[in-house]
Amino acid sequence: MPRRKPAVITIDGPAGAGKSTAARLLAERLGYTLVPTGAMYRALALSVMRAGVPAREGPELRDHLAHRSIVVAAGHVYLDGEDVTDPIRSREVARVTSDITTFASVRAKVTPLQRQLAKAGGVVLEGRDTGTVVCPEAEVKFFLTASLDARARRRQAELAAAGTPVPLDAITTELRARDTQDETRALAPLRRAPDSIELDTSDLTSDQVVERLLASINRYRGGAAKRTPATRVNRLYTVMRIPVVALARAMFRLESQGRDNIPATGPVLLVANHSSLLDPPLIGAAARRQLIFLAKVELFQFPLFGGLMRRLNARPVRRDGADPAALRTAMRVLEEGRALLIFPEGTRGDEGVIRPAKAGAGMLAVLSGASVVPVYVRGSGRAWPRGRTFPRPAKVTVTFGPALRFEAEHGADRKQQYEVASREMMAAIARLRDGSADGAEKRWSAPYAVRSK
Ligand code: DC
Repeated sequence: MPRRKPAVITIDGPAGAGKSTAARLLAERLGYTLVPTGAMYRALALSVMRAGVPAREGPELRDHLAHRSIVVAAGHVYLDGEDVTDPIRSREVARVTSDITTFASVRAKVTPLQRQLAKAGGVVLEGRDTGTVVCPEAEVKFFLTASLDARARRRQAELAAAGTPVPLDAITTELRARDTQDETRALAPLRRAPDSIELDTSDLTSDQVVERLLASINRYRGGAAKRTPATRVNRLYTVMRIPVVALARAMFRLESQGRDNIPATGPVLLVANHSSLLDPPLIGAAARRQLIFLAKVELFQFPLFGGLMRRLNARPVRRDGADPAALRTAMRVLEEGRALLIFPEGTRGDEGVIRPAKAGAGMLAVLSGASVVPVYVRGSGRAWPRGRTFPRPAKVTVTFGPALRFEAEHGADRKQQYEVASREMMAAIARLRDGSADGAEKRWSAPYAVRSK
């Protein structure tokens, strides 16, 4: 792996998906610190049980928590100085943990400790909310899943090895109850971060899981590392952006929302709705990074204009049907760690109408494994619709949504994966249009407030 600031890597998922083993092996392979967040909650549950404090939110619990110290070191967990790594593995502790993790005071005690541990980088955090709440800005996020049956069998083998044989249906029932508890609680529920890489571990050994995780990390970080800052900043683009922004503000009262959703470095695919010729320059003006654009090859045939377009980061593509060269061009841009803007719908449509994406968009998202940032442009189809000779003043807002990530799933039907990716990216753009749950600010603000005193 190239020498750069060590990453923050998060691994979330339901109980028994193989997170703990995968996280431990991954941390060993990378030489990173392991932060098993579930174990921190388990240690608090153990202390609550030992002290006989009722497992309900209130002053008694808060007072108890205030005097506890939880330390994670070398994969072990210490409660008030005592190594509790083994005693916290019991079923009884697991049950109480599931209850107390629904309390705000418990999460407010542990979440800041986890953030502190992640601060310097070089950590693998493992749990339920590490990629969504604890470190939403983590560089690489994984979400591990497995069938209920596979998870129950694993838990059974684990318990048997520890000398507690338990019937499979009892474990299945417990796991189901914990899944429901983890997924439905109001605070930091278990859910997949939209920009996480999902991996079904049902039929994989732990070594295979780690190999897959390492391959994804290398692919992602490798792509980002190829970036050489000196060659990346296009001076003409920087200079030309100034009058474009000024004009866009004066004529279209251009407003930009959710700019922070564009990762500051590394490969990014921006996917936008398209209803006007104004879309590329206005998205370029609104974005916080220099973008690469794809434009139809005919535009490059005008000598001066073509040269200028190229110097302003436009790359020619053919428009007649599938263009394999366009896909190669796009892949190369992303491999260089740049930000590429595409319009998955192809040609321009009407203001406010979102049309299905062409297959190539989903394919590019899956094959590149890049972060995909949905973009909704509002108003450009009123300011300069198709068929009009000149633009007219109208307000335009460009909204960047939380990044999505589509990873190629081995063995799955490829065409279907591309179609799903195409559909999901358009759905994300539609959510930005409708201002629904996936709003622009969400990624960067924790779904609940940490009220630590
Ligand atoms: O991963 P585990 O089995 O050690 O987790 C124990 C419990 O803690 C489980 O009920 C889920 C909960 N947990 C959580 O709420 N948030 C985390 N970040 C990690 C675990």
